[in-house]
Amino acid sequence: MSNIEQTLSIIKPDAVERNLIDEIKFILKKNNLNIKDSKKIHLTKDEAADFYKVHQSKPFYNDLCSYLSSGPIVVMVLEGENAVLTYRKIMGATDPKNAKDNTIRKLYGLSIDKNSVHGSDSKDNAKKEIDFFFKY
Ligand code: CDP
Ligand code: MG
Repeated sequence: MSNIEQTLSIIKPDAVERNLIDEIKFILKKNNLNIKDSKKIHLTKDEAADFYKVHQSKPFYNDLCSYLSSGPIVVMVLEGENAVLTYRKIMGATDPKNAKDNTIRKLYGLSIDKNSVHGSDSKDNAKKEIDFFFKY
């Protein structure tokens, strides 16, 4: 049975800065993830802190919020078959060193913090994250 889902993707500042938007979008489309909506924005640190609040107890939280708000990002709604898991696989492991070949993070990630992309980790979080950026 088909299971069409939506998930949230972010192209992070390190990848926007290196002009990787088109390359990353090409990989998404090639893997049958349709880009339903896309916008380039620049978050304030407070907005980044709100978006990443699930990580507020982590030691890397402050740096993470500074980093996400350090430059423009591209936020996208992806739609496709099992989109949440499909996109997590294409994205690759959090640390690019551990990411499998041909994943976005293996191809483009610079380090665990500058790892080029974000992806929702569950259907519930995908809905929350899409609502955070896109009010339909
Ligand atoms: O992004 P992902 O879901 O793979 O990982 P996460 O555990 O939800 O962490 C969110 C983000 O925090 C990661 O994408 C990293 O950029 C950053 N992070 C970090 O800077 N240092 C760590 N030790 C772990 C995560
Ligand atoms: Mg996560």
